[in-house]
Amino acid sequence: LDILDIDIAQSRTSNRLKVRTAKKQPAFSSFADDVSTGLSATPKTLPPRYFYDKAGSELFEEICNSPEYYPTDCEREIIDDNMHEIAQAFDSETCIVELGSGSSVKTELILKAFMHLNGRLEYVPIDISKSMLVESSRKLLRKYNKLHITALAADYQTALDHLRQNRTDRKLILFLGSSIGNFTADEQIAFLSGIREDMDESDRLLIGIDLIKDRDILESAYNDSRGITARFNLNLLHRINRELDSDFNLDAFQHQAHLNEKKGRVEMHLRSLEDQTVTIDALYKEFRFTENETIHTENSYKFTRQQILDLAFDSGFTVDTSWYDRKQWFSVNLFHPV
Ligand SMILES: C[S@@+](CC[C@H](N)C(=O)[O-])C[C@H]1O[C@@H](n2cnc3c(N)ncnc32)[C@H](O)[C@@H]1O
Repeated sequence: LDILDIDIAQSRTSNRLKVRTAKKQPAFSSFADDVSTGLSATPKTLPPRYFYDKAGSELFEEICNSPEYYPTDCEREIIDDNMHEIAQAFDSETCIVELGSGSSVKTELILKAFMHLNGRLEYVPIDISKSMLVESSRKLLRKYNKLHITALAADYQTALDHLRQNRTDRKLILFLGSSIGNFTADEQIAFLSGIREDMDESDRLLIGIDLIKDRDILESAYNDSRGITARFNLNLLHRINRELDSDFNLDAFQHQAHLNEKKGRVEMHLRSLEDQTVTIDALYKEFRFTENETIHTENSYKFTRQQILDLAFDSGFTVDTSWYDRKQWFSVNLFHPV
């Protein structure tokens, strides 16, 4: 597998930090291909994983701290209230693997509970955003001297392939922030079934899943009053301008987010405010937009409790325990392979 160890510059934590980067990052070529395919489709789309360059990852952290974005607060409350119960279900050999770890802020609570019980802990955060991955790993290591980190700067699939070939001890896999909701129903089952295949009987998956609720609450979470989500969404066009030499005028597109009730998901779009043509030099292509035409940039599916049970069942799991916040807006679920 194309995985390469990189050297971390001299630092106080370097002997407890390994960073592994996929040699073939899904960088230029696949970004260019995906942009070309997405903008040639009807309706136009762009894959949400490209939100997370350095600027996008920082904007996502700001979204998490905005008062309207309830998922982070609800999930933190659930973890805070139940981390000891979670940690007690695992022995001292357990390693924690996290998919899409981001800033690891909520995860820190779980890591702390594990170290409190068992001492030394091996943590394997996986994220496509290398800057965020390295920064948050270093921050954690400076605080906890019993923590050892192998950070995988790679997309989920590459990292999972790597883990398959480098089996660890007992694993608790974390997938927080309702990132599962960014996949379509078929993709959710395929993704979780893939994870399931590599799990041993004693491994567990702890997965944060957002629940369906009133339109107003959902729509204001994705339309925060300070316009951070709008900047996050528009940053995708900025990234295409920067990395693929295009001439998107960011003032000629507008962030839009709404609940699609029939499909049970919040959709994010970028709406063209006028008829316009955009040139992407790296693709030698032009793309025409009519006024009000949108680029569909993200889905965030919201679940009923029954849908969570069905998702677990269809992917080869049963649900051990589900925890909820006091408002019952969000859930954290411990999945057990069957
Ligand atoms: C919605 S954020 C959630 C972050 C964090 N888990 C939380 O709960 O706040 C999604 C995270 O997954 C990462 N990510 C998105 N798509 C990815 C992919 N295909 N492979 C690896 N990481 C990905 C992003 O960089 C980002 O840090």
